[in-house]
Amino acid sequence: MQFFSFFLSLGLLLTVIISNGLDSPEPRLRESADFPVGVAINPKRLAQTDYAQVVGREFSSITAENVMKPQYIWAAERQYDFSLGDSLLEFAQAHNQQVHGHTLAWHLMQPDWLENTIDSYDSATLENLLRDYIQATVKHYRGKVVSWDVVNEAVSSGGKGWRNSVYHQKLGDDYVARCHQYAREADPDVLLFYNDYDVIASSEKLATILAMVDDFQSRNIPIDGIGLQMHIRLDFSLDKFQYALDEIVKRNLKVHLSEVDIRTNPDGELSTLTEEAAQQQQELLAAIVQRYQQLPAENKFAITFWGLRDNESWLTKHTGHPQWPLLFNENFSKKPMYQGFLDGLDANQTQLD
Ligand code: XIL
Repeated sequence: MQFFSFFLSLGLLLTVIISNGLDSPEPRLRESADFPVGVAINPKRLAQTDYAQVVGREFSSITAENVMKPQYIWAAERQYDFSLGDSLLEFAQAHNQQVHGHTLAWHLMQPDWLENTIDSYDSATLENLLRDYIQATVKHYRGKVVSWDVVNEAVSSGGKGWRNSVYHQKLGDDYVARCHQYAREADPDVLLFYNDYDVIASSEKLATILAMVDDFQSRNIPIDGIGLQMHIRLDFSLDKFQYALDEIVKRNLKVHLSEVDIRTNPDGELSTLTEEAAQQQQELLAAIVQRYQQLPAENKFAITFWGLRDNESWLTKHTGHPQWPLLFNENFSKKPMYQGFLDGLDANQTQLD
């Protein structure tokens, strides 16, 4: 009898294990990480059912790839059109996702009317218009977006000092600080980020940004975090990455890996993604996520991928070649890079050391 019940229990146990194994859903990014996992999207694509399903299922944060930039919102002097951003927000609310605002001030992607008139404004006129734009936009999205990239790419491309943009020329060295103050006046709670590219590759750019942060903090200019864009290649330096993370954490700021994509075809010699490149991409993302995962919880803001599928990445046009830089391929299938993200979350991974 005892013998029989032993086999019965064993059978039950096996049934439970097997059926759980079959039923248990595959891991989703948004449930696997204890920080938000984001994707940059274009609201027009949400009309495609497959696209909307994957975005809703996998991600807990959304950034507008374009439609919350001045080019889309700033319709005319003191006139704003929030309709496309609002549609993105509706989707996010329906899928329990946070929204990161990108971006209030940038020297690129301005509306044509502003491009055409900006040189003719005197400093005070431009400052007033920019303040009105920032405050109207931040107020419109108050309580709806968790964060903003206030000024995007304000440091010179070489990394030393401010970029010689029309904003810098007309508004002077302290305009980034004032933009932060305008945003804070419009929303006391929204998190304010400074966002830039090549911050890991260029030690000079990192130094300029850290000096800006030190200056802001010494003068009580509000800043909550740094957005590291992470448009990177397979030769990315993990040592420099770790150094940048440590320096940002020392300053009690949040880190947003804000626009992650990993180029696999910098010179355009590949006509298809090779297995080797896909694997290198997987390992690199795992190592990046592993280091990010080890940050103190309060310093982890989010990791955001700059697009969903390889075929829609901005890099094809920007670099002139396909780069296969994202987590999903054209058919919405997960690439090895997707597994790399999950691997990185597991701090016990030894293969990464
Ligand atoms: C890019 C978009 O992905 C493209 O669709 C658009 O044509 C140009 O802008 N750094 C940024 C992003 O901060 O806003 C840029 O997005 C990519 C580089």
